[in-house]
Amino acid sequence: MSDTWGFETRQIHIGGEPDPATGARAVPIYQTTSFEFRDAAHAQNLFALAEIGNIYTRIMNPTQGALEARLSSLEGGVTTAVGLPGALVVASGQAAETLAILTLAENGDHIVASPSLYGGTYNLFHYTLPKMGIEVTFVDDPHDLAEWAAAIRPNTKAFYGEVLANPRNDVFDIVGVSKVAHDNGIPLIVDNTVPTPYLIRPIEWGADIVVHSLTKFIGGHGTSIGGAIIDGGTFDFAASGRFPNFTEPDPSYHGLPYFPALGHGAFIIKARVQMLRDLGMAISPFNAFLILQGLETLSLRMDRHWENADKVAKFLVAHPQVEAVAYAGLETSPWHERAKQYGGGKGYGSVLAFDIVAPPGSTAREAGQRFVEALQLHSHVANIGDVRSLVIHPASTTHSQLTEEEQASTGVRPGLVRLSVGLESIADILADLEIGFAAAK
Ligand SMILES: Cc1ncc(COP(=O)(O)O)c(C=O)c1O
Repeated sequence: MSDTWGFETRQIHIGGEPDPATGARAVPIYQTTSFEFRDAAHAQNLFALAEIGNIYTRIMNPTQGALEARLSSLEGGVTTAVGLPGALVVASGQAAETLAILTLAENGDHIVASPSLYGGTYNLFHYTLPKMGIEVTFVDDPHDLAEWAAAIRPNTKAFYGEVLANPRNDVFDIVGVSKVAHDNGIPLIVDNTVPTPYLIRPIEWGADIVVHSLTKFIGGHGTSIGGAIIDGGTFDFAASGRFPNFTEPDPSYHGLPYFPALGHGAFIIKARVQMLRDLGMAISPFNAFLILQGLETLSLRMDRHWENADKVAKFLVAHPQVEAVAYAGLETSPWHERAKQYGGGKGYGSVLAFDIVAPPGSTAREAGQRFVEALQLHSHVANIGDVRSLVIHPASTTHSQLTEEEQASTGVRPGLVRLSVGLESIADILADLEIGFAAAK
């Protein structure tokens, strides 16, 4: 197995060696809660982290490990000093975000976030983290670096943003925001769910930690919820001075100070052995297996998603019932150049959104809902990144728990319709959209 292989080779092979016990060629599903210790010394060493190995599936499991090795390779994660991959897979994308933040921040701490976020993330940051004593400042304009700098406090533990935001489609300034973060000893976490590492590898542009909803494009088949955290291993927790929870002994771990004792990659080890151990949002081995099956064809699917999305975007731009299209692939998009810089122009994502025109006698919100209801090929679901084309009206669903003002700050207007363009024949996708427009009139 080689990290110098091309992306397409690594998405199939990394972590997928034949099973040493049986020769099984596909990654086996190790559907077991626990692993037998060789003897008492082995058990003691594993618990003390003096030796790394499987103890209990809440913390580590070989099927999960195969997915972790593959994701770490594809995103450019660190190889930890203890030999584990620089990735951790967990029960969902929300779990990945929560765990990443709680590994850095605790009661009394603070993070700064872009408001261009998936609605569930916005809720987590706006309501639930504050209940745990972690305050979140949303900058108004995530593209204004001065706002990030001005939001920093002595207790700020992370900056957070989505690389290609769902559904606003703006492209996060990874280079600019990471510089502000690093100048102040703060790590940058980004959600790379929509671009996937086949398009953009944020660690190469300055992000320290990447999170994913594996539920979407990485799995691709719409069968399994999962999430991942990838540690670039680049952040110096000692030099920062902001992280006593890394540099001082952890009484819950035999007095271990994670950094520098565990070196670069201490973040992802701490996320696993402390936070996942205690909070327990483990992924099942079966779901890890299913996500691995999807990941093997990621590049092929993404090329097709982007090809179809481009055609859908051009169709929408030319449509008289469309007011505006949010898609970074359009040359008129303010985010086009940045998307090209990070992704090399091979794709611009396939989760696009558009504002439907309010027809005489009804509101844009009603028109959006009628459009969504009328589609036949598109599945009306709260998901993105499936092989199937999907549609939703965010203002009445994914973002409905937000006030109208909050919705606006995340890019959701009443007539906004979100599409996740799938892999079907493009003629059928466009014909279905026409059915929606006819119903919305
Ligand atoms: C960009 C993004 N991040 C995170 C999540 C949360 O992931 P999950 O549903 O796997 O918890 C979603 C879900 O839609 C998402 O779109």
